[in-house]
Amino acid sequence: MIISFASSKGGVGKSTTCACIAAELALTGSRVLLIDLDQNKTLARWARKAPIDGLTVLPIESKEFGEFFRKQSAAGNYDHICIDLPGTREATMFKVLARSDLVIIPAQASEPDLREALVVVSDIRDVREETQRPIPYRLLLTKVFPLRSRVTDFAYQEMERHGLPMFRTALVERSAYREMFLNGQPPTQGEAGKGAGAEVQALLAEIQAVIGGDADTLRIAS
Ligand SMILES: Nc1ncnc2c1ncn2[C@@H]1O[C@H](COP(=O)(O)OP(=O)(O)OP(=O)(O)O)[C@@H](O)[C@H]1O
Ligand SMILES: [Mg+2]
Repeated sequence: MIISFASSKGGVGKSTTCACIAAELALTGSRVLLIDLDQNKTLARWARKAPIDGLTVLPIESKEFGEFFRKQSAAGNYDHICIDLPGTREATMFKVLARSDLVIIPAQASEPDLREALVVVSDIRDVREETQRPIPYRLLLTKVFPLRSRVTDFAYQEMERHGLPMFRTALVERSAYREMFLNGQPPTQGEAGKGAGAEVQALLAEIQAVIGGDADTLRIAS
């Protein structure tokens, strides 16, 4: 499956979520290619700290993406391809959306983040029309404060108002998601089955259900 992580807003957790999911897929036995399209090459650096068997992380320049992706798809060396997009809305983003089996849109529970998420959703709808592919997408709340707050309630209400499909799992603000960039260790290795590790495992189960077609994700009335 081809999973992309998109948002035109910076710092919402695209790279963090992409790394966690790609790592967990590899740790559970899949051959995974992570394409790092971010100029900062955050994930290529992360992967060098504590390499994981089965996970290949390659930084690719935007202009090389089309050709690179064609070659990788034809070679068939990987079970899954995870694509980390930069926080900008540019031509490569549209190319990636068109090739995705699922687009994950991370957003914090805040008005500006949700507004940017809606922009990506609108872009996905355009690409769907052009490609005639379904291109499922889900919003993922990230850096959520553990205690329910007025902003979290606002975020859920807004998503309901716009009929946006979202994951039941949200990624809570936790130090494990920051530490992984220091020590290279994804949360499913460091805290398997609890805390951030359990969250990532729950998210992956939802992703597999969406792609497998038996999703029980929270589908808010559209
Ligand atoms: N759930 C979380 N809990 C705590 N910190 C988090 C969480 N998710 C992300 N972070 C931290 O927030 C910062 C931004 O996250 P990240 O780099 O994943 O965002 P991004 O959307 O990829 O940003 P950019 O658009 O700049 O590429 C990082 O320092 C990361 O460690
Ligand atoms: Mg990033």
